[in-house]
Amino acid sequence: MQRTVTFPAHSISSKVITMENESIVDIFYDAIFDIRKTYALITDTNIARLYKKELSTLPKNFTLITIPAGERSKNFSMIEKLSEKLLKINVGKKDVLVGLGGGVVGDITGLLASLYMRGIPYIHIPTTLLAMCDSSIGGKNGVNTAGGKNLLGTIRQPLATIIQPCFFATLPEKEVRNGLAECIKCAVMMSKKLFTLIEKNHQAILKKDIPLLNTLIAQTRNLKTMIVTGDPDEKSLRKILNYGHTIGHALEKVSVYTIPHGAAIAIGMHLENVVGLNKKIVQKKVVDQVKELLEAVGFQTKLPARTKKTISHYLAHDKKREGTHIPMYLPSRVGSAKLHEIPIHDLQSVLL
Ligand SMILES: NC(=O)c1ccc[n+]([C@@H]2O[C@H](COP(=O)([O-])OP(=O)(O)OC[C@H]3O[C@@H](n4cnc5c(N)ncnc54)[C@H](O)[C@@H]3O)[C@@H](O)[C@H]2O)c1
Ligand SMILES: [Zn+2]
Repeated sequence: MQRTVTFPAHSISSKVITMENESIVDIFYDAIFDIRKTYALITDTNIARLYKKELSTLPKNFTLITIPAGERSKNFSMIEKLSEKLLKINVGKKDVLVGLGGGVVGDITGLLASLYMRGIPYIHIPTTLLAMCDSSIGGKNGVNTAGGKNLLGTIRQPLATIIQPCFFATLPEKEVRNGLAECIKCAVMMSKKLFTLIEKNHQAILKKDIPLLNTLIAQTRNLKTMIVTGDPDEKSLRKILNYGHTIGHALEKVSVYTIPHGAAIAIGMHLENVVGLNKKIVQKKVVDQVKELLEAVGFQTKLPARTKKTISHYLAHDKKREGTHIPMYLPSRVGSAKLHEIPIHDLQSVLL
């Protein structure tokens, strides 16, 4: 059974297809198959290994391209290498890239699609909770440079996004936890209802209860879609999605990406709340509520000691800074947030 779900996001003109009870092969034959086109299917080494059998039966006009799994693949030389491969297999302007994987594959595929031949269509098939709930929405893509995370990137909407819960069968619990951090972010900023759902059910979610995961994905996607539809170019409201990410991104960079994105933004959310508490714009009750949930889910909320010395430097170079301040949304209560201008030195002072 195939069902097309329309989120309130017509203006970002990207189709969302939710599939149920199907094998992954059906995605290629039922959802995106068009004999006239060449498809370059980009995935990572883990997915290629786990779904080897299924991927060996792809339609003839699909070419599988595998990149090393992990954040270290998110660099510009990977984009250059992949574009050479696309040329070799004759991918033209009307052909399609398909990103099958987590946020790393999605970000690389999106950027490649926006640069190759000045832009060709692409389809997202997210395989992690983080990618289903977050990175596959809104069209942001990017690669990292020596200077920072996602420093080179564009905003380009996919032709379609295919949500297929069968990928949870192989997803390790630590990756579910990682994705849950982005759901908690959206909940704290925008939805008490989602916060309560996670508070009550985090253990079942971590054990991959599919109906709960479907509810979690639908609610989080709706919130993010609403925001990016209202502010596709991050002029104002979209900044709400950066909650936890100012400190989180700096932490990822300092740890040379050994701290996963979800774990880094969990620490980021707590410490950004503490900055707000120090400035009397976030209540103690809210700081405690969020910290309690993050810790119950299994996240640390303290900075690892080894990162303390160097993290201040990265914060000072944050790409979101405006002079000596960074505009940041902080929770006024759970489920609602306000924009504040936070001096960079206030952020640095909670890192000591
Ligand atoms: N573009 C955006 O708007 C946006 C938003 C949030 C995060 N991101 C980016 O997303 C990335 C993080 O995404 P992620 O957490 O999905 O990381 P990831 O793509 O590295 O995936 C995490 C790990 O899970 C493995 N994996 C993926 N699907 C699997 C499955 N079904 N079964 C077993 N293993 C599987 C991967 O091989 C990898 O080892 C970061 O680079 C972050 O910057 C982008
Ligand atoms: Zn994130």
